[in-house]
Amino acid sequence: VQLTDTLSVDQTGWHLTEIGWNPDRAVAVGSNFLCGNGYLGYRGTTPEQGAEDYVALVVTDTYDCADGLWRELTTAPNPLFVAARRGAGPIGAAMGDHVSTSLDLRSGTFSARYEQVIDGANVVVEVERFASYDNLHLLAQRWRLRSDSALTLALDVGIDGQVWSLNGDHLPSTVRTAHGDVLSAVGTTGESGITVAVAAAGSVDVNGELLEANETVDADGRIVRRVMVDLTAGDEVTVRTTAAVVSSNDVGNPADRAVTIVGEGIEQTYDELVDASCLVWDRIWEATDVIVEGDIVSQASLRFSAYHNRISAPAHSDHLPVGARGLSCQAYQGAAFWDQEIYNLPAFLFSEPEIARNLLIYRHRTLDGARRKAQRLGHRGAFFAWISGVTGDELCPDFFFEDVLTGRPIRNHFNVWQMHVSPDVVTTIADYVHITGDEDYLVDFGAEIAFEVARFLRSFVRYDDVRQSYHCIRLLGPDEWHENVDDNAFTNYQTHAALTFAIETHERLSTSHPDALSDLSRRLDLTDLEIDRWRHVRDHLVLPGADPESGLIEQFDRFFELEDVLPDTVAERLLDPEEYWGWPNGVAVHTQVSKQADVAMLLWLQRNRFPVEVLRANYHYYEPRCSHASSLSHAAFGMVALDIGEVEAAVRHFRSTATIDLLNTNDAVVGGTFIGGIHTAACGGTYQLAVQGFGGLQCLDGRLAIRPVLPPDWASLTYPVRWRDHRLSVAVTQTEIAVTADAANPGPVEVTIGDRAISVPAGESVTV
Ligand code: BGC
Repeated sequence: VQLTDTLSVDQTGWHLTEIGWNPDRAVAVGSNFLCGNGYLGYRGTTPEQGAEDYVALVVTDTYDCADGLWRELTTAPNPLFVAARRGAGPIGAAMGDHVSTSLDLRSGTFSARYEQVIDGANVVVEVERFASYDNLHLLAQRWRLRSDSALTLALDVGIDGQVWSLNGDHLPSTVRTAHGDVLSAVGTTGESGITVAVAAAGSVDVNGELLEANETVDADGRIVRRVMVDLTAGDEVTVRTTAAVVSSNDVGNPADRAVTIVGEGIEQTYDELVDASCLVWDRIWEATDVIVEGDIVSQASLRFSAYHNRISAPAHSDHLPVGARGLSCQAYQGAAFWDQEIYNLPAFLFSEPEIARNLLIYRHRTLDGARRKAQRLGHRGAFFAWISGVTGDELCPDFFFEDVLTGRPIRNHFNVWQMHVSPDVVTTIADYVHITGDEDYLVDFGAEIAFEVARFLRSFVRYDDVRQSYHCIRLLGPDEWHENVDDNAFTNYQTHAALTFAIETHERLSTSHPDALSDLSRRLDLTDLEIDRWRHVRDHLVLPGADPESGLIEQFDRFFELEDVLPDTVAERLLDPEEYWGWPNGVAVHTQVSKQADVAMLLWLQRNRFPVEVLRANYHYYEPRCSHASSLSHAAFGMVALDIGEVEAAVRHFRSTATIDLLNTNDAVVGGTFIGGIHTAACGGTYQLAVQGFGGLQCLDGRLAIRPVLPPDWASLTYPVRWRDHRLSVAVTQTEIAVTADAANPGPVEVTIGDRAISVPAGESVTV
């Protein structure tokens, strides 16, 4: 099934293929066809390509600032480099015919194939590679060339230091060494002093017969073993590369470790390495795969989203964030935004809750960074970074975009005014504890975060003596084009919810874990008087209500006084298509045109606070005025559309969010800043919209509840569920809902379907 002129998916919904080589698509295809495992991301490029083709191996936990502005992850030297030449002529996808590149989502395998005519010989090149989930440092690749005539080739196989790096060179020099058959390149990041080591061993055989390298060449930042190959008609030459990347944040001696991993890897065949990784993928898909019958595009884009959300998550660690672009490139600095808590993490709550837990422990580990930020800006408690790396200190630069008309940098205030990330972390902790019942997390980590955020919020709000209420002054809500606003409805309600959770947690711990609470109180210097002050803020914080006549909630104070126009009209006012629309002077600033869902975020996340008429009125007011310029937008509107029974609109939002990367709909460069790569929030949003939206999966008052709404085109929707100690499968058709409980469950599972309470014994199935 064709998704675009060049991109298609097969009937299984697992296999994506791009036809042709088009340099204009290189950024998108390289990201879409990424191999990864939460530790590393290797872009979907072919082995002979280099920096100009956006080749990059992005490694987690390697933050470095090379240009004095952007602290981002390092791209390591490329250990999967294979270049073939015949005389002066190179062989490669860019010169080839019938080029196709593919990604198999089931096994995380990238492949490429092309043909080329060289000196009258027809050659076919095929490549296959994956990033191992069995050993997160390991990559393996098989490169094969077949010729129909005699041909002499020079093959360079090794490590290429000329890779894509967005903002400066993070490894200014590398030490390159040959240890027998294994090559290595080791460098240290210039500013942060992290050592990054890659190692690679490439074996070359013709029809299964191994060839020795003629020489090792070390030049231009590249170390390769050069092998001369004489082929006769019908011969096939295979280069099998086993590679590893390790940093000094992983082990004391990363170079030794990388060489050892490669040494162990070459003891196994390529197929054995694939199988070991696939065993892990099997477990992942068993926990997460959602099956849609009747709509292959939705099926494929849903799997694509689940794949990318999973490989962007550092499931192996509890001290690393999910990047807004995952490990697909360095854009957005490999760091967490509020996206992590609202989009990426909730996709794991009912499937792999231990990943959600790790991410929330990460927030605990970064509390000191959040405390430093609060203190620096004159507040108390924990003010989480808008862009948060490994320490939690703010990574977002003061000048984020540029005025493309004047070339002057724009002072955006994401790093000082966009404070809703702190309450967002707390409301997600509340959801996590509610859904998983993980009281230990709350006692060991969550309570401290909630208390420190409550402390921050109290210091942030301002009391207005005349109105006798608290206000959130001078901030940015979700809609980033409107900076310096007051009482953004979403932010105020999230602040209220976070304070409520902190107060309730305090009450809960005082009866269930009094000792832990008194330890924590001592450590944080927390008194009953302070909790009373939180209560005072909670009870007197202004919560912009719905207008009694129109039902509308004002996005922020005096929003309705702004010019009321639609995005298309505003777009006509642009002088340059790359102009930034927002603060201080962009075309949207004095209008009601929003960048992304804002009031809709409130209606999605706090839907129970508002009657359906209010949801409806606000959906219809804000949706046409929203330009959906952020990848976060459609999922939120989709959730609200479902709640007001507008299924067709929800399907439209689902398709838009699910295909942002596949159809490459969002601009890669805005206001002079590169923000391309995989939009991981949209991936998490797609999964949530499918399972928690159409699939209707929820936790209501501590019970599992299923209230599905199936799109008319979907014959069925089936998804797995992890619920406390139980595993279930839910299958929804247009007429029935079947819940099947795993035979290994510890007892029956209680589920509410619509308004009916059912109990499903282990190993049985109940259909409603
Ligand atoms: C959006 C933010 C988002 C960030 C990272 C921005 O374009 O406006 O809401 O957190 O991208 O995805």
